[in-house]
Amino acid sequence: MRTNQPQTIYLSEYKVPAYLVDQVDLRFELFEDGARVHSTLTVRRNPDSGESAAPLFLHGDSLQLESVALNGSPLRTGEFEDRGDALVVPSVPEKFELQVVTWIEPQNNTRLEGLYKSSGMFCTQCEAEGFRCITFYPDRPDVMARFRTRIEADKSAYPVLLSNGNPVDNGELENGRHFVTWEDPFPKPAYLFALVAGDLVEKKDTFTTCSGRNIDLRMYVEPRNAKKCDFAMDALKRSMRWDEDVYGREYDLDIFMIVAVDDFNMGAMENKGLNIFNSSCVLASQETATDAAFQRIEAIVAHEYFHNWSGNRVTCRDWFQLSLKEGFTVFRDSQFSADMGSPTVKRIEDATLLRTAQFAEDAGPMAHPVRPASYMEISNFYTLTIYEKGAEVVRMIHNLLGDEMFRKGSDLYFQRHDGQAVTTDDFVRAMEDASGRDLGQFRLWYEQAGTPVVSVSDEYDESSGIYRLTVRQSIPDTPGQTGKKPQHIPFALGLLGADGQPLPLKLSGESGEAPLERVLELSQAEHCFEFEGLSERPVPSLLRDFSAPVRVHYPWTREQLLFLMSHDPDGFNRWDAGQRLAVDVIQSLVGAPESAGVEPRLVDAYRSLLQDSELDQALMAKMLQLPSEAYLIELAEQADVAAIHQAREKVLGYLAEGLRDELMACYRRNVGQGDYQLTPEAIARRSLRNTALGWLLHIGDQEALALAKEQFRGADNMTDRLGALRALVNSDFAEDRTQALEAFYKRFSDDPQVVELWFSVQASSDRAGQLPQIRQLLDHPAFDWKNPNKVRSVVGAFAAQNLAAFHNPDGSGYEFLAEQVCRLDDSNPQIAARLVAPLTRWRKFAPGYSKQMKSALERIRDKAELSRDVYEVVHKSLAD
Ligand code: TRP
Ligand code: ZN
Repeated sequence: MRTNQPQTIYLSEYKVPAYLVDQVDLRFELFEDGARVHSTLTVRRNPDSGESAAPLFLHGDSLQLESVALNGSPLRTGEFEDRGDALVVPSVPEKFELQVVTWIEPQNNTRLEGLYKSSGMFCTQCEAEGFRCITFYPDRPDVMARFRTRIEADKSAYPVLLSNGNPVDNGELENGRHFVTWEDPFPKPAYLFALVAGDLVEKKDTFTTCSGRNIDLRMYVEPRNAKKCDFAMDALKRSMRWDEDVYGREYDLDIFMIVAVDDFNMGAMENKGLNIFNSSCVLASQETATDAAFQRIEAIVAHEYFHNWSGNRVTCRDWFQLSLKEGFTVFRDSQFSADMGSPTVKRIEDATLLRTAQFAEDAGPMAHPVRPASYMEISNFYTLTIYEKGAEVVRMIHNLLGDEMFRKGSDLYFQRHDGQAVTTDDFVRAMEDASGRDLGQFRLWYEQAGTPVVSVSDEYDESSGIYRLTVRQSIPDTPGQTGKKPQHIPFALGLLGADGQPLPLKLSGESGEAPLERVLELSQAEHCFEFEGLSERPVPSLLRDFSAPVRVHYPWTREQLLFLMSHDPDGFNRWDAGQRLAVDVIQSLVGAPESAGVEPRLVDAYRSLLQDSELDQALMAKMLQLPSEAYLIELAEQADVAAIHQAREKVLGYLAEGLRDELMACYRRNVGQGDYQLTPEAIARRSLRNTALGWLLHIGDQEALALAKEQFRGADNMTDRLGALRALVNSDFAEDRTQALEAFYKRFSDDPQVVELWFSVQASSDRAGQLPQIRQLLDHPAFDWKNPNKVRSVVGAFAAQNLAAFHNPDGSGYEFLAEQVCRLDDSNPQIAARLVAPLTRWRKFAPGYSKQMKSALERIRDKAELSRDVYEVVHKSLAD
């Protein structure tokens, strides 16, 4: 499949395309043993390219070339070169038409890039470089063309034929075949092309835009999923309205379509007018989807819809600019989710993901800037850094400019660049031009990798009433980047008095009324801020609402954290204080003797939480979650996984024992509250009762066992049913665990998405997911190596969530993962490369672990014919 030393692509070598394509005419003949693709490109030399006699270069991958013709005359041998990964025509006129016919085999396409089959239907995935698996084409996002697509297929097997844009023609053909022709009036890069052909049911709705245009909304799903569309359709309509209200963005075609497919490498894809979704990210019903799944679906439907402007109308010049569309669009979908639910909870979830996983990526061998400078395989760069850190960077711009100026900036950006392929720098410039703010230093957020560390120290001078904060920032070295410059960091803070009241932040020399919260703008390696007029030493509340994606170091005492946990007016920091306290308590027990006691004030703090009737229940539900093992590992210098696991379990057991009655009361207070609803309050109630149940089963409480079994049987929704199942699976009640797992499978065995939940509950449990059991799951009849969701729900969940089992000191977990990566590398390199991630962090672990992780990586490295995807991750991880 692969050469041995893949090439590195550099941003600095970017050149404008030598040829532009104005029009693409495609005709697909779809058959069971393959597909013939007829492509006619209307091409002209790019006036902006210096090269006048450049050869025409078209990308290709896994194509069988049948014929090439230029302006209608077939090209002979010598007049073109089929290099396998490219078609080169050395000499072409200034303007011409190129006709290319290729043969491809979608039915054998296991990479799920280009045109492939999933449960009997044809579908496509062209981002980032999949279009070249369909036909020869200048497959780069700065080549934008109008597409016209005719699809021909057997009518009874494939009654539904879809592509981008509007349907303009259809009819019958011989042999029971038919065709539909689609035309997309908006020029687009090839990565936004899509085609679907299948026997699908159609769900219809409509939307009237702000200017009064009527849009047909369509969802296409397999018949068995017809009842799982309502939520996504509603989320789509809310997204369309929201984008009009908040960003002034109206939909631009007459029809908008969503298709659900079971086999998909990622979550979903924003193809123009024809979004294609992983089934698990769009289909839902009360009985089969958890609250988390509903929220994910809402966010992803919104995300893909928002791409219509941030990504499609204005797209990326090259793949180094990926965060231009992804960072901005994640920011937009997070604003949307915050508006739909609880903003504080959404912020906590985003910050948790960032601090647990993105900070780890930024500290590892694959660390890269939001705008990378080089890559081998672009699929490896659809990362937490590009998406989530990229969104944080846009959020900081939003907060620096304020709502109104940010909107002016985004209006200018869309207006100035509509129909263009641009850079992150163009985005920042539009924000500067609209607001008049200088974001020169801020641009370093795009260029420098690594998570800034902000260290704060303070002193209070009683006689003068002055409180001095010294704030230092530093950015760690990352592969290929050392000696970094200070960044522009918005640092929000408040000060609290002993009575819990916020104190005014009056900077020395300032006059007028002082605010109760401020955003300090850090720009140098060190700043000293003096606040005056303070009659007592304040407790600082730092980086409120997680105002920048940085690590904050401050020598908090446990008293201060307990105080902030109950008094900070910033909901995010109340939660954060609780997390820091729990981290501190757990860390102090890592490697400590058996006899070491747990901080009793932690129990008191959680008790007052559980009894606080004024506290927002959604925030309470989040505050009751202990920091995850993954986060504790991320914070450790040299992680000893077993010791961390034991320490966390000890704290969990201690809390559950100490709060047994309060937890039982919390459970009872939060059961049976009428009809199933998806409001933040109802979600919080389910989260609280399931957390309480989990803790109580963790300590083997018999009364809780009875409640869990009853909830498992009687639940009217998946959140509660799965909550009870998870509690049973993670308990020591082995027999009840087995029974529940069997009953659950029996009930849902014909629903692949629920079977995936069933797999992952086991694979991520240290009780039910030890290696021999994982191997059994792989042998289960419902497991399918060709389905990425199944692979993720067993292999992915084991390696990323079942940390104690994966990091078995005997190295068996690593060896297992290496084996599965090698096996997947031949069929689906994108998925294989993603599965390697847990091993890439080998340097973070205590020597006993790290040596064995490294040798698992070496085993993968030594496999014959490694894909470019896995090659890049493994070699970068092993480099010194
Ligand atoms: N652009 C998609 C999104 O963020 C991401 C995506 C979907 C993707 N499928 C992919 C990226 C396949 C790489 C490969 O919404
Ligand atoms: Zn996206």
